[in-house]
Amino acid sequence: MDTSGKISIITCRAAIAWAANSSLSVEEVQVEPPKAGEVRIKMASTGICGTDDHTIKGLLSAVFPFIPGHEGAGIVESIGQGVCSVKPGDKVLTLIMPQCRECSSCLHPKGNFCEKQDVLPSSGLMLDGTSRFICKGKKIHHSFRASTFTEYTVVPEIAVAKIDDAAPLDKVCLISCEVPTGYGAAVHSAKVTRGSTCVVYGLGGISSAIVMGCKASGASRIIGVDINEEKFPWARALGVTDCLNPQKLKKPVQQVVREMTGVGVDFAFEAIGLTDVMLAAWDSCHLSHGVCLIVGVASINSKLSLDAPMIVSGRTLKGVCLGDYKTRDCIPQLVTSYLQNKINIDPLITHQLPFDQIHKAFELYHAGKTIRCNLLF
Ligand SMILES: NC(=O)c1ccc[n+]([C@@H]2O[C@H](COP(=O)([O-])OP(=O)(O)OC[C@H]3O[C@@H](n4cnc5c(N)ncnc54)[C@H](O)[C@@H]3O)[C@@H](O)[C@H]2O)c1
Ligand SMILES: [Zn+2]
Ligand SMILES: [Zn+2]
Repeated sequence: MDTSGKISIITCRAAIAWAANSSLSVEEVQVEPPKAGEVRIKMASTGICGTDDHTIKGLLSAVFPFIPGHEGAGIVESIGQGVCSVKPGDKVLTLIMPQCRECSSCLHPKGNFCEKQDVLPSSGLMLDGTSRFICKGKKIHHSFRASTFTEYTVVPEIAVAKIDDAAPLDKVCLISCEVPTGYGAAVHSAKVTRGSTCVVYGLGGISSAIVMGCKASGASRIIGVDINEEKFPWARALGVTDCLNPQKLKKPVQQVVREMTGVGVDFAFEAIGLTDVMLAAWDSCHLSHGVCLIVGVASINSKLSLDAPMIVSGRTLKGVCLGDYKTRDCIPQLVTSYLQNKINIDPLITHQLPFDQIHKAFELYHAGKTIRCNLLF
């Protein structure tokens, strides 16, 4: 059912990043109807992900001005020509990584880095090269072809996952990014084994979901590393067995982790986005069989420099996006698993605030007081 002919521009509120590192500004925007292959969504909730923070700070290749946000849940308001996987009224999640089901990545059984993604490099535009947002007569870019810090957004159908009608929309926005990214990195990508040892660098939103995945996989020891000790009680409640603050150690943290485990960990995860911490994660691994997963997104133009002779020892270094899940196929299943009490995302939501308190939500985030703060529309 193509509803695009009967629908018009919607005027609503959205948060705009006008320039790198500037405070977001809540403005009235015009949201155009969805074009062919697109979906307009009435947002219900959105999380604040570390990637949004990187983008607003100009650390990733965003094009300003843009509407940030990608971790979203909402209801389809209208659809463009040819859209057949969702209809108005459906509950959906927005996806930072689309699944076009046609490109070499989508057709391969492994991996999920769809060639229609707008992650690297970010143009901030829809697939036809334009945008669906206007503010004060000026075109406003999208964020990763998504943008969820707005009451209404338009996204490509290939970046929309239809979810169970029973899903609570105030919570499941986390299953758009945080949960598949973190939980998926542990259970689906690394395939953490029962009785194994793990270290998780960062105890923020994504890392907390990694900890959940390590615990669910039966890891015997989960070492959590963060410079903010306020995260430690939450981390312990999720399954971290040992908390380390690298700023309080007398030796490099990777050396401490190697000494604690005797031989290095079986699985190491970096979920901060800092190259020195990525190297610490790599050097925390068992030399022969350790697996190091890089989840954090490093700033543009940064490089990793490895000790080349030691690469042959046998360790695996792997980057992972959205838990390697084929997003439209797998992410709805995670929502169903939550509804069936097979995974519990509730401890990951430490705060919920109305959308008009987005500045307070960012203050709490920057002060390190949240795991995730969901904004509700
Ligand atoms: N690969 C993917 O698919 C994917 C998806 C989403 C997010 N990300 C990335 O994951 C990273 C984390 O995102 P998040 O939402 O969890 O952010 P977050 O801000 O909630 O968490 C980051 C944590 O790292 C801690 N930290 C900062 N510097 C540190 C240091 N030097 N040593 C130890 N701890 C330190 C902070 O105190 C915080 O707890 C970001 O880089 C984000 O871009 C990747
Ligand atoms: Zn994210
Ligand atoms: Zn694809």
